Amino acid sequence: MKQAHHGSILHFLSDPDKTTDGLGYEYFSDGLLIIEDGIVQKLGDAANILPNLSSDIEVIKHTNSLIMPGFVDTHIHYPQMEVIGAYGEQLLEWLNKYTFPTERKFEDKAYARNIAEKFLNELLGAGTTTALVFGTVHKQSVEAFFEACEARNLRMICGKVMMDRNAPDYLTDCPQSSYDDSKSLIETWHNHGRLRYAITPRFSPTSTPEQLDKAGQLLQEYPDVYMHTHLSENLNEIEWVKQLFPDCDHYLDTYDRAGLLGRRSIFAHCIHLNDAEWHRMAETKSGIAFCPTSNLFLGSGLFNLKRAAEANINVGLGTDVGGGTSFSILQTLNEAYKVLQLRGQTVSVLKMFYMATLGGAETLDLADKIGNFKVGKEADFVVLDKQCSPLMALRLNEHNDLLEQLFVLSMLGDDRTVKQTWSAGVLRHERDQSNNH
Ligand code: GUN
Ligand code: ZN
Repeated sequence: MKQAHHGSILHFLSDPDKTTDGLGYEYFSDGLLIIEDGIVQKLGDAANILPNLSSDIEVIKHTNSLIMPGFVDTHIHYPQMEVIGAYGEQLLEWLNKYTFPTERKFEDKAYARNIAEKFLNELLGAGTTTALVFGTVHKQSVEAFFEACEARNLRMICGKVMMDRNAPDYLTDCPQSSYDDSKSLIETWHNHGRLRYAITPRFSPTSTPEQLDKAGQLLQEYPDVYMHTHLSENLNEIEWVKQLFPDCDHYLDTYDRAGLLGRRSIFAHCIHLNDAEWHRMAETKSGIAFCPTSNLFLGSGLFNLKRAAEANINVGLGTDVGGGTSFSILQTLNEAYKVLQLRGQTVSVLKMFYMATLGGAETLDLADKIGNFKVGKEADFVVLDKQCSPLMALRLNEHNDLLEQLFVLSMLGDDRTVKQTWSAGVLRHERDQSNNH
């Protein structure tokens, strides 16, 4: 099946901060993106391609729009959808008061299935086509999620939470059962179609060293599986880690000793890292999920993007729903910009959209499959509506240049801005229709 999408098209070829021209992108104001069987076949100026286009290709015209690769969310919790926007607490209290009681419900697979469907609707509605996702401690929570993703042929990564202490009894496993359950999920789901598995110890305070060792053993047995956890988010959390792991040099060391660092290891937050931790993150090529809406909402702190860039560490954006307050990567860019303002750092608008797309894919070691429209990539993309609201229409007009338009889209944009979301060449979300799948 072949289609051609006709409209303004933007994508990144590399990190704008690492290119000599400071750009790293291609923009076709009147472009054509040709897709065959869910794979990008050609991208270029419509004027050059259209005259020779074979007549069996359906041309889909997108007006007043910007087509770009689907957004990548490098850290989110699907079971926490229901606690988004819960009042008044910082991390550790928030976990006990809101998160743990809600995660208990995922013992029931039917419940998990229902939330997984709603979660994917929100994700696609926000223009996100790939995410690195926490399940709960229950194996069936991850089965329900993967089944829902498989039905829509989405490229997603998920894992069962490993958690054997400092949490309610109803939410804890043990080192051996967490190993067994994770292993069985890996065998079934990892590399199953577009799905991938992430070994997911929640964070060091809720895992014994024995459990972290089991996670490390799994990673050795399955080296192409991901590792996904939290690191250095909140000052009380860091103090607690010091007490729980008196022999470790620092927070990151609790994971390092278990062999959990590496190219496919993603650490959410990383706000209060010390020099040794920054160094070790870089040395092991571990990635970071920068989660500004969560970091502001839970009062955790301000991420140091400049330091990460200097250390050449991959950074993607994470919504961290339900600690984060929006599914929208556009809203996440909005708050990322403000966090960096408070830090006295500036980030270019190109870098912002790079992080939302190719940079996220790079962080997840998926840049050979998604993140831009190079020939052979999977056709995951969004159609953003430049007239999605009266205010957006007023603010964006023909006098704005591309960079100004992008910046305004990130400041004013949200799920209303996402007109369509396509995954593997199939329309999976259409804003103006009530039934989306
Ligand atoms: N640290 C451990 N668990 C969590 C969680 O569920 N959300 C966030 N933001 N941080 C965590
Ligand atoms: Zn999180």
